[in-house]
Amino acid sequence: MAGEMSLSSSKERIPELGFRNYWYPALKSKEVGRKPAHLRLLGEDLVLFRARDRIWALEGKCPHRGMPLWLGRSHFPGTLSCAYHGWTFDHQGRCVAALLEGPDSSLPSKVCLRSYAVEERFGVVWIFMGEVEPPPLDEDLPPALLKPDLVVCTDIQDWRCNWRVVIENFMDPLHALYVHRRSLLMLFDMVLSSARLEVRDTDDGRGFHLEYRGDSYQDIYPGLGRYPRRWWWRRLRARLFGDDKFWERGFFAEVRLPSHTSVNLPGGVTYIQWLVPKDKEETRSVALTVVQARGLRALNFKFWYHVLFHWLENRGAYSVLGQDRLICEHQDYRHPEKLSATDVGIIRWRREAWRRARGGGSEVTISRRSGESTR
Ligand code: FES
Ligand SMILES: [Fe+2]
Repeated sequence: MAGEMSLSSSKERIPELGFRNYWYPALKSKEVGRKPAHLRLLGEDLVLFRARDRIWALEGKCPHRGMPLWLGRSHFPGTLSCAYHGWTFDHQGRCVAALLEGPDSSLPSKVCLRSYAVEERFGVVWIFMGEVEPPPLDEDLPPALLKPDLVVCTDIQDWRCNWRVVIENFMDPLHALYVHRRSLLMLFDMVLSSARLEVRDTDDGRGFHLEYRGDSYQDIYPGLGRYPRRWWWRRLRARLFGDDKFWERGFFAEVRLPSHTSVNLPGGVTYIQWLVPKDKEETRSVALTVVQARGLRALNFKFWYHVLFHWLENRGAYSVLGQDRLICEHQDYRHPEKLSATDVGIIRWRREAWRRARGGGSEVTISRRSGESTR
C-alpha cells in the first residue's frame, strides 16, 4: 500500500504543463507569414512574427491592457504594434513607442515583453521557454534527427487531453497489440496475442528503451476460448513475403525527455512523435517521419509519405495516431487505478521522469508583472 501511495504522488509530480527547460517543436515555419501568428505553449499565449529574416516569439498579451498582440500590425519594419492603443514592440520585446502618447513619451523605456529563444529546423519552428539558458537545439533532438541528408515530413494535430495521458500511452507500448491490431497499417501483419514488456535506460541516458517480446499469435483462455478468434488473413502476407516485419515477434521504441518517442520502421524510416503541452487540456502532437535520403530516393520517399503512409499512420479513424487519439481523449486520467504487469513502463516514467528532467521537474511560476523580462 505504501508503494501505491508513493507511485500516485510521483504521478502528481509530473508537471501538468510539461517540463519547461527543453526545446519544443511548435508549428510549421510556413504558418508564420506576413501577419503575426498566435500559439499557445506550456500554458502561455505567444505571438510569433517575422523580422530581420527570421521568426521571433514574444509573450502574446499586451502589458498595457491585455490585448492579444497577434491581432496587431507592423507600422515600422521589424516591429509589432498592439491593435488597441498602438504600443509598439521590437523583435526582442522592447517597447519602442506608445503611439497615442507621442514620440516624447518616457513610457517605452519602462516596458518590455518576455521573449523566447527560437530556432527553425526541418521546416518547423522550435521554441525554448525554460528558466535556464537555452542549450543548443541539437542537445534536445533524438539521434535520428542528428544525421545528415534528412528528409522530414511533418504532421501536426491538436488533441483534447493533457500531455501526461499521451506520454503514458508511449510508455505503455503493449497497447499497440490490442488497439492497433485493426489499424490499416497492421491489418495484414502477424500481431502477437500477448507479450512481456521490458524497460531500460536508452544508451544516451536521456530516456527509456521499451521492448516487448512474445511468441504467441493466439492464446487459449480456459472457459472462454481462443483470442483472437480469427487471424487467418494475417498469415497471407507472411506466407507471400516472409515473416520478417518488425513487430511480429518483438518491438521496441524509445521515449526521451521531455516528451517524444522514436520508433524505427522498415526501410530506414524513423517515426518520431513529440508531445507539446499547449495547456492543461490540450496537447499538440508533432509527428516527424524521417529518412536519410537524397535525390530520387528523397523524392520517392516524399511521394509515398503523402500518398500512403501519412494516411496509414497519422490521419483517419483507422490510422495508428487516430486510434491513439481516440483512446487518449477519452481516458479518465484521474480515475483510481490498478496497475498491472503491462504498466512497468508507466511506473518507471512516474518514478523517474521528474527526477531526471533538466533543471528539476517542478512547475515554474513566472512572474507576470508588467514590464518584466526573462532575457
Ligand atoms: S492594450 Fe495594447 S496598447 Fe493598450
Ligand atoms: Fe498507440
